Amino acid sequence: MKNVLLTGSTKGIGLAIKKELELSKYRVFGSGRTNLNNINYLSVDLSNTDNAKLLYKMAKEALGNIDILINNAGCFFYDSIDDMDFNKAKELINLNFITPCLLCSLVAKDMKKNNYGRIINIGSISGAVGEAYASIYSATKAGLSGLTKSLALELAQYNITVNQINPGWVETELSDSVLAKEEKEQIVSVIPQKRFIEPIEIAKLCKYLISDDAKGLSGQSINLCAGLSCGS
Ligand SMILES: NC(=O)c1ccc[n+]([C@@H]2O[C@H](COP(=O)([O-])OP(=O)(O)OC[C@H]3O[C@@H](n4cnc5c(N)ncnc54)[C@H](OP(=O)(O)O)[C@@H]3O)[C@@H](O)[C@H]2O)c1
Repeated sequence: MKNVLLTGSTKGIGLAIKKELELSKYRVFGSGRTNLNNINYLSVDLSNTDNAKLLYKMAKEALGNIDILINNAGCFFYDSIDDMDFNKAKELINLNFITPCLLCSLVAKDMKKNNYGRIINIGSISGAVGEAYASIYSATKAGLSGLTKSLALELAQYNITVNQINPGWVETELSDSVLAKEEKEQIVSVIPQKRFIEPIEIAKLCKYLISDDAKGLSGQSINLCAGLSCGS
C-alpha cells in the first residue's frame, strides 16, 4: 500500500482527491486548518512556513514512509497591483509557494533513498495564462510550474516523477467565495465547455499521475480547464 501526504484535504479539490485515493487503497495523511479528530490528519496553518516541518514529521510518524506528496492547499484573492496588501500577499506566497517548496525538499530526501516517489503540485490556469487582479496568486502558481519542471529533471534518476495540474474554474468553496452569481454565469459563458470543472475530475487525474501507467510522465503541467487555456 502506498502512502500519500496531501495538503488541504478538508474540502473542495483536496477532499475529492482524498476520497478517490482512499477508494483505491492509498493511505492518505491529510491537513487543513479545520479541527478533525483523525489520526491521519493534522490541523495546521501552512501560511506559517515553519509548520511544513511539523506536518512532514507528523505524517511520517503516522505513515512510516511518504511515497507521494500532493501540494494542494492554496488560497486566492483579487487585488489590483497598485493597491496590493503586501502582508496578505506574503501569506499567500508562503501558503501557495514556499510551503510546497519546503515539503518537496523534505520528502525528496526519503524518496531518493527509496528510489521511488511521486509529487503533484496543484497549480492553476491563472499561472499558465495570467489573470488580471490575481497577479500574486498567478505568480505563485507560475512559480510552482518552474519548481515542477526543475525538480522533474533533478529527481528523474531516482524514479521520482513531479507533475502539476492546472485547474481552470472548479466548483468549490474557494471559487464560490470570490464570485458573485452573475460573475459565475458570465465566466461560464466564456469557458469553451460552458461549465466549471468538478473536483472529482482533478482527483482522477491525480490517481492516474501517481499510477505506474504514468511513470514516463514527468515535469508536465496539465491544464484541466474545460478548454479555457486555449482561448474563448
Ligand atoms: N476552485 C478553483 O476554481 C481553483 C482553480 C484553480 C486552482 N485551484 C487550486 O486548487 C487548490 C484547492 O482549491 P479548492 O478550490 O479546493 O479550495 P478550498 O475549497 O478553499 O479548499 C482549500 C483547502 O486548503 C486548506 N487551506 C486553505 N488555507 C490554508 C492554510 N492557510 N493552511 C492550511 N491549509 C489551508 C483548506 O483547509 P481548511 O479550510 O480546513 O483550512 C482546504 O482543505 C488550491 O491550491 C487552489 O489554488 C482552485
